[in-house]
Amino acid sequence: MGLPLCLRLAVIAAFLPVTLQGPHQRTLLKELLKDYNRMERPVANDSQPLTVHFSLSLMQIMDVDEKNQVLTSNIWLQMYWYDHYLRWNQSDYPGVKNLRFTTDQVWTPDILLYNSADERFDASFKTNVLVNSSGYCQYLPPGIFMSTCNVDVRWFPFDTQKCELKFGSWTYDGWLLDLQMNDADISGYLQNGEWDLIGVPGSRSEIFYDCCKEPYPDVTFYITIRRRTLYYALNLLIPCVLLSSMTLLVFLLPADSGEKISLGITVLLSLTVFMLLVAEIMPATSDSIPLIGQYFASTMIIVGLSVIATVVVLQYHHHDPTGGKMPKWVQLFLFHWVAWFLRMKRPGETGDPERPPCKQNHHVHVTSSHLQTPSTLTMGGIHTSSLNNNGNLLYIGFQNLDDPSHVEGGTCSSGLGIGTAGIGSIGDPQLNSILEEVRFIADRFREQDAGETITEQWKFAAAVIDRLCLVAFSIFNIICTISILMSAPNFVEAVSKDFI
Ligand SMILES: *[C@@H]1O[C@H](CO)[C@@H](O)[C@H](O)[C@H]1NC(C)=O
Ligand SMILES: *[C@@H]1O[C@H](CO)[C@@H](O)[C@H](O)[C@H]1NC(C)=O
Ligand SMILES: *[C@@H]1O[C@H](CO)[C@@H](O)[C@H](O)[C@H]1NC(C)=O
Repeated sequence: MGLPLCLRLAVIAAFLPVTLQGPHQRTLLKELLKDYNRMERPVANDSQPLTVHFSLSLMQIMDVDEKNQVLTSNIWLQMYWYDHYLRWNQSDYPGVKNLRFTTDQVWTPDILLYNSADERFDASFKTNVLVNSSGYCQYLPPGIFMSTCNVDVRWFPFDTQKCELKFGSWTYDGWLLDLQMNDADISGYLQNGEWDLIGVPGSRSEIFYDCCKEPYPDVTFYITIRRRTLYYALNLLIPCVLLSSMTLLVFLLPADSGEKISLGITVLLSLTVFMLLVAEIMPATSDSIPLIGQYFASTMIIVGLSVIATVVVLQYHHHDPTGGKMPKWVQLFLFHWVAWFLRMKRPGETGDPERPPCKQNHHVHVTSSHLQTPSTLTMGGIHTSSLNNNGNLLYIGFQNLDDPSHVEGGTCSSGLGIGTAGIGSIGDPQLNSILEEVRFIADRFREQDAGETITEQWKFAAAVIDRLCLVAFSIFNIICTISILMSAPNFVEAVSKDFI
């Protein structure tokens, strides 16, 4: 008795949903759609607004086009509302928990992305509407949305962008369709290599137009993203910093190498190449100059100025000695103030005040001595000896005055000293001609010395300017790098997140 009942119950339990679903669903669908007009707003009282809850779930940020100011994102929209005409008594239609309708069959809110940049404008895919027995409709159309976005590249590459997605009903006002916002869902978000998602805050606002009394509600979501900096740091910033420090090498390079200008110009050219790369990414706007553009521009100014400075340095270094002496004020400025400030010494100056700066100057000493003491006068240089009629030896020698005992009174004006102690009569023509020759040689040396002194002076001036530029440009470079790059509002955050 019990077994057949059990069996019967089991058969009913197994077949009930299957056997009864089909006819019930069919009759229910027929019943529901019999008088349904999808143009009719599904409310019980036409004076009441229909509340639609709107939200979105962000799946992926596909592209941020800075140049065209377009954000492409993969988004699933979410719309929930109660349809008054799509309700049924679940016990009358057992097993039919919910129904699916196409958007052609039932009413759907005409919610569109206002700031769409898509060719078709509405890029969403029309999925089915899921309805349960309370008339609760769930409509979740996915889509690849292209939206206009005001990409502000002021702080590129340390920038944070806020792209808004403004949704609203295209034809219904707030009294007919009350649009309410639910929080955006980012649980299914797929990480982007270029951008970090900070959040998708949303807000609901109502706009009143002059024409009408009714409000026009809209829901706006702000996709807030921060650019990941590592790529740009590696490909743009580090080369630029390296190139701008190369500029300093221009001032270290010896002027005689003849490569100073070409190094400067090469650095300038490579900077231009990098600047073109940046310009390709950036929108052609004059609203705001990107941070990296500012940095490149200031680096280029530094390099340009350094080329100019190098030309001045070379002009000083290769100055024609017959072209005149240096103006007094330049001497004062360069040799006293700047050289003192930079702790530079002229080549002759060793820093020892006892030794006069004329070690390498040749001096001509003509001295005469008695025959008995020629051995005391063996010195380097040219030796000329002649025996005059008094039996004295006239000794002419060029000395290297390494020995400070030959320097009288600290001054060592190159001079011709003729010892006349033993020269009795000067009338000897042979001696006179020798003296003449000696004077000529001495004059030549003096001229050469004077020319060399001037050349040395110019060269030293060039070296001083070089060193001054090195110091000044180093400071300028460091200040520029730090002040420009660190002025970005989220520099510290970007560096700490991307590099550490
Ligand atoms: C419809 O709503 C309006 C305003 O809320 C109300 O005055 C009216 O009585 C309602 N009509 C019905 C039939 O409920
Ligand atoms: C659903 O139908 C059953 C039986 O026909 C009835 O008892 C119940 O009151 C109905 N429920 C509603 C909410 O109308
Ligand atoms: C229909 O769905 C809504 C929202 O999830 C829920 O509140 C309601 O109870 C559901 N109705 C039935 C009959 O399950």
